[in-house]
Amino acid sequence: ILFLQTNLQIMMSLYSICRLTKSQEWRFPDDFKFGVATSAYQVEGAWNADGKGVSIWDTFTHNRSFLIKDGSNGDIACDSYHKWEEDVMMAKNLGVQLFGISLSWTRILPDGYGTRINQAGVDYYNKLIDKLLENQIEPVFTLYHWDLPEVFSPLGGWSNPALIDYFAIYARTAFALFGDRVKTWITFNDARLICQTYKGLVGDITSVYPLGVIEYLCGHNILKAHAEAYHIYDEEFRRTQKGKVGITLDFTWSEPANMSNPADVRAAEQYIQFEFGIYANPILNYDYPEVVKDRVAQRSKLEGFSQSRLPQFTLAEKLRIRGTYDYLGINHYITLYAQAIEEPLITKPNIHIDAGGSRYSDTNWGESEEPWVKLVPWGLRPSLLFIRDRYGNPEILIMVNGYADASEVLDDNNRIKYDREFLKGSLQSINEDDVNVKAYIAWSLMDSFEWENGYTLKSGIYHVNFTDPNRARTPKKSAEFYKNVIRTATIV
Ligand code: NOJ
Repeated sequence: ILFLQTNLQIMMSLYSICRLTKSQEWRFPDDFKFGVATSAYQVEGAWNADGKGVSIWDTFTHNRSFLIKDGSNGDIACDSYHKWEEDVMMAKNLGVQLFGISLSWTRILPDGYGTRINQAGVDYYNKLIDKLLENQIEPVFTLYHWDLPEVFSPLGGWSNPALIDYFAIYARTAFALFGDRVKTWITFNDARLICQTYKGLVGDITSVYPLGVIEYLCGHNILKAHAEAYHIYDEEFRRTQKGKVGITLDFTWSEPANMSNPADVRAAEQYIQFEFGIYANPILNYDYPEVVKDRVAQRSKLEGFSQSRLPQFTLAEKLRIRGTYDYLGINHYITLYAQAIEEPLITKPNIHIDAGGSRYSDTNWGESEEPWVKLVPWGLRPSLLFIRDRYGNPEILIMVNGYADASEVLDDNNRIKYDREFLKGSLQSINEDDVNVKAYIAWSLMDSFEWENGYTLKSGIYHVNFTDPNRARTPKKSAEFYKNVIRTATIV
């Protein structure tokens, strides 16, 4: 027995040494893919060109420019509607295998509803797809990256269940038009941000609206719309097109402020469930997480509601949503410490109070020029582990990750430092945690319109000169870094 035990111990140490060496090499598996991404409103411009309909971001930036940091809008943005060939060449120069873009709903269906197609919009995406494929780059298409047709604003945007059918028509149209060549589809980007901020709900509102009510309605409809799009693909297109469909969720890692305090551990778990589980669980498991259902019901009662502010799925809906993924897209930026707090007795409905805690970032963590971007590269790994352990190790695409700053300099050493650490985190998850990560898509190919931050916040690997009518693009130092990572499949 002693002999066997010693042998077993030796074998186990050898195994861990091998694993360590595998990681220390910092080499990605052969089938791992790298990419870059952009999104329609952030880069295309041409907001009313060639028959395109109006989106909520057109309305919002035009009517509420005072809510955008530099008062700007995406009317021209990077002018990718005209400069798409150059964009493809930039991606090719980096050597990426994947190019993530989002479709502008109103460029394809200018009325938003119905089936009237804007051929000029279709031509635009066709040219782009063909050029990418010609250059051996696979298109990754997101159907919804926040630019809802304005026509749905008076209906309350995503808080109205009518949008489920409208989205289904749009999804079917997109699969039919482009699915012969596009094999990787994402229904929604950052579902939580659509609902918990004003970023995609309706066009002409400020961020002041009843928190803790509309978010849940919005999320509920988005989950159903996602499921419908998935089933449409499954039933009508999968056999001939042989592609895959998933959703992209953002994952803010919440770490207990004090690991040995069970209340803090609970607070961290609750935050994760209210932000991530609320979308992930119905799709990858079944129904909303219990803790979310329980807490919203309790708080609603306290606030005098006759029923929970969280809508309920019927049994048929739960089953229809369950399992509607071929992979999961993850956006990861930040990590926060979560702490239990004394809960207020009666409040206005508020999703953060429902989650029950408070959060902060460590002042020792490195900071980018934007306070919300703290350099916390270790947060990606526990996020991926959480997904592996709770949802049966699904295939994951890291859809958005990157570094934002306010600087015009081309020597973007901080971006390189940050990207390197995140890439290491992804690789450790693959090699040491056996997490099923298949791709890393950097945000973003180029500086672009950064929502409420206008052009003041820059995430590009390429710099874009927004004062130049030609929107000249110049590679930053990180382009060379990323190119080397891709060429060698190694973190250098
Ligand atoms: C992720 C979003 O999807 C993207 O649109 C945004 O620009 C980046 N986060 C940075 O804020």
